[in-house]
Amino acid sequence: MEKVIDESKQGQSLHLEAKKENSRKLFIESYGCQMNFSDSEIVASILSNEGFNTTQNLEDADLVLVNTCSIRDKAEQTVRKRLEKYNAVKKINPKMKVGVLGCMAERLKSKFLEEEKIVDLVVGPDAYKDLPNLLSEVEDGREAINVILSKEETYGDISPVRLDSNGVTAFVSITRGCDNMCTFCVVPFTRGRERSRDPQSIIEEVNDLWNKGYKEITLLGQNVDSYLWYGGGLKKDFEKASDLQKATAVNFAKLLDMCATAQPKMRIRFSTSNPQDMTMDVIEIMAKHNNICKYIHLPVQSGSNRILKEMNRQHTREEYFKLIDDIKNLIPDIAFSQDMIAGFPTETEADHQDTLSLMEYVKYDFGFMFAYSERPGTLAERKMEDDVPEATKKRRLQEIIELQRQHGHYRTQQHLGKIEEVLIEKESKRSDAHWSGRNTYNTVVIFPKEHYQVGDFVNVQITDCTTATLLGEAVGYSENN
Ligand code: SAH
Ligand code: F3S
Repeated sequence: MEKVIDESKQGQSLHLEAKKENSRKLFIESYGCQMNFSDSEIVASILSNEGFNTTQNLEDADLVLVNTCSIRDKAEQTVRKRLEKYNAVKKINPKMKVGVLGCMAERLKSKFLEEEKIVDLVVGPDAYKDLPNLLSEVEDGREAINVILSKEETYGDISPVRLDSNGVTAFVSITRGCDNMCTFCVVPFTRGRERSRDPQSIIEEVNDLWNKGYKEITLLGQNVDSYLWYGGGLKKDFEKASDLQKATAVNFAKLLDMCATAQPKMRIRFSTSNPQDMTMDVIEIMAKHNNICKYIHLPVQSGSNRILKEMNRQHTREEYFKLIDDIKNLIPDIAFSQDMIAGFPTETEADHQDTLSLMEYVKYDFGFMFAYSERPGTLAERKMEDDVPEATKKRRLQEIIELQRQHGHYRTQQHLGKIEEVLIEKESKRSDAHWSGRNTYNTVVIFPKEHYQVGDFVNVQITDCTTATLLGEAVGYSENN
């Protein structure tokens, strides 16, 4: 689930518990990163106060919202295709209104209304609280748009309505936006400057989730290690804060400590970490609390120092290795995953080999790998030519994927014969006699159901594995249960 883009969830529509008094129907579907899925829960929560219940049937909808992704061109093309589908439905149901949310809304702004005639409403990621006003404009027959990015908005005061698919795992957003300006990335432009959410509201949400039966949360942000609360405001303005604000500031290590202490039986994960902002105090907190999972998503993008520099990643390959080594010194059995980009402008065969040798060093448990896709407005698009031929990008990507498959398999095999704690999340897709859950390292474990239930912490004897999945048998409840 920590996967940045979870292919199995793309386009999933949200369905929430119906309020009796609500008569209007909202169809909302989400593409892209977990933050978008989490935002859609906030949008559904705002609209449930405006008389909307969700539906999973597009044909029934009064309002269709699509939460969009701009990270790669392919993501945008997928959304364009969905708009064609909505258009066909609108012909049958002309009263249906269509709104575009998220990163494409922010990137394309009013261009959307010109280019896609079926779109009535365009709302950027920081403007969801304005939805009720925007909707009333649409109802009066006008097009409506709000793509203003905010310095403060974190939606900390809105209690998201959860997608009640498993009731066991949930995402809690802790930061919005990103200040890193990696040269390939559109996120700083579509999601604005980085700001952190009030730790008090985060803890309240974590407590509330525990009381509702949730057993695992993932703290979510574009760059969680950069979390910094000093009473509100942008990360970049911290220097201007008062002495008192500085002395009482909460960083990510502290926040993690607070969450793990507030709910000592709640499993805690976080995503995404950026090597340049990851500090050892975070690892010390991980080592201190049993309920913080031993898994870090630590994207590196490339193994070549020259390319890392061109990407404006603020570390070298050697510094990355040192970070990995230091983390392993404190937590020897920690699992890592990566994001990698193949074919960034000017990437040579030697640079690509550096990526493969970096992977060889770390032997990641999991990886999410992409061919470089030039994004309008980014520094790389303005300053560099997208000069690696498509066929070369594809070939290098394939080599990276193949190596990751081998490493993933190697890591999976290391669990054989062990007894590991698994949190049961759902029924296995392949068999209704088996449960599916994850161990602390984020590996999926499948085992016979017996008398156990969804939400139980169970010790599982690992007996077998496929490339990426563990198979086993429960030996009893774990201590945490
Ligand atoms: N810090 C963020 C990163 C968001 S983008 C987070 O929460 O994970 C997710 C991944 O998409 C990046 O790590 C990168 O590997 C990939 N990506 C971003 N821009 C890209 C581009 N222009 N082309 C190809 N892949 C890209
Ligand atoms: Fe993008 Fe780099 Fe931020 S990948 S989201 S600019 S950390």
